[in-house]
Amino acid sequence: MVDTLTPVLSDNWDQDRAWRLSAYERSGGYAALRKALGEKQDDLIQLVKDSQLRGRGGAGFPTGMKWGFIPQGDGKPHYLVVNADESEPGTCKDIPLMLASPHTLIEGAIISAYAIRANFAFIYVRGEVLHVVRRLQRAVQECYLAGHLGKDIHGSGYDLDLVIHAGAGAYICGEETALLDSLEGRRGQPRLRPPFPAVAGLYASPTVINNVESIASVPCIVNFGADWFASMGTEKSKGMTLYSLSGHVVGPGQYEAPLGITLRELLELSGGVRPGHQLKFWTPGGSSTPILTAEHLDVPLDYEAVAAAGSMLGTKALQIFDETTCVVRAVLRWTEFYKHESCGKCTPCREGTWWLVQTLQRLEDGEGTESDLDMLLDLCDNILGRSFCALGDGATSPITSSIEFFRDEYIAHLTHGGCPFDPQAATLFPEPARLSGATAVTSGAGV
Ligand SMILES: Cc1cc2nc3c(=O)[nH]c(=O)nc-3n(C[C@H](O)[C@H](O)[C@H](O)COP(=O)(O)O)c2cc1C
Ligand code: SF4
Repeated sequence: MVDTLTPVLSDNWDQDRAWRLSAYERSGGYAALRKALGEKQDDLIQLVKDSQLRGRGGAGFPTGMKWGFIPQGDGKPHYLVVNADESEPGTCKDIPLMLASPHTLIEGAIISAYAIRANFAFIYVRGEVLHVVRRLQRAVQECYLAGHLGKDIHGSGYDLDLVIHAGAGAYICGEETALLDSLEGRRGQPRLRPPFPAVAGLYASPTVINNVESIASVPCIVNFGADWFASMGTEKSKGMTLYSLSGHVVGPGQYEAPLGITLRELLELSGGVRPGHQLKFWTPGGSSTPILTAEHLDVPLDYEAVAAAGSMLGTKALQIFDETTCVVRAVLRWTEFYKHESCGKCTPCREGTWWLVQTLQRLEDGEGTESDLDMLLDLCDNILGRSFCALGDGATSPITSSIEFFRDEYIAHLTHGGCPFDPQAATLFPEPARLSGATAVTSGAGV
């Protein structure tokens, strides 16, 4: 049994009413803010650069470098926008974090806004999670009353207003420039870049947009230092992070561990795949990241190693599927999501996702032909890299990767005249051994 959990962001989650300011301050909360307000802004940016924190929203862009792009002395207002839209299927780390400890995020937001010389900050949260919106609003109110927000914060001369903005629940509004359009009151659609948000973002002013977990990681870096943070993780992927395990596992939930832990280790920590079943396929970082199989259990879950394995670390949303899952059905469901969430701005994604669903549906119904697989791959080829934003690219990931690993299962739908699965009996179509991904991984200690 490995013991590599490093609870930092999640350390206070099990405390009594951890979301209240009093509880957060009892566990040392807002000490980092007081310390940061005594530092020069440029030194804070350098600290975050030195920590090598990379954005936790999916792309892994260095956070300190992003902050460094904000022009200084430009006379324009600067804005900090926290991306709390979290809508990717399987991704479920920011919402638990904000629910359990909203002040970790708010303290991070105040320090980050101070560092980039912003006097206004926004947390753009998915409006469907009303309980989280309310919790954040209450936490912000507590901060104003305690003097952590507002005018002349703790006598530092620094003013900051923080607004909780509830989006209407569109996946595309998590894309940072669509988010800005939505925040400005327009329909959320991605913007052409350049200019990048650091130059012309919210209200055409310099703007930093970061993921919830990225910003929530800032207070501990201020408290314990860049070297402490960089001592965790792997060569190019530093620090601890939240891995979200879901699906066919004994212990789904948030597992905070250094970057570079493997799925095998995380499964050991979480009790493994549910008893009597075998790992078939999994996503390393949500549905936009190419699926992996049991062959990849020992891939270090950091940005470089997952990319070398042919996928992406993404949001570290580890969705686990055992052998009772029909991969064609799962991929169809994901593709329906992308079709529904396509904002319609560009043709490859708007039309392409529609055709992907039609073709996949035909295959799932056993009505297609083997040439439909080539058509699917051709469609993906015309979407990937040709869409306006990464939503289109993401829509192709489950399809191309599932055809790579489970082509036999697609063909079995055709020869069987429909889905060959019998989920009740939890058996696979004709011989499980034909599935390259469904090999010898069992639950619990056997993983
Ligand atoms: C369709 C789409 C949805 C996205 N949704 C989110 C989201 O919900 N939360 C998030 O932090 N980033 C999301 N992103 C990534 C953001 O565009 C952006 O890269 C991120 O917020 C930057 O923060 P970071 O540098 O801290 O990772 C999404 C991207 C795309 C293309
Ligand atoms: S790729 Fe899809 S979501 Fe992105 S701009 Fe084009 S139509 Fe909109």
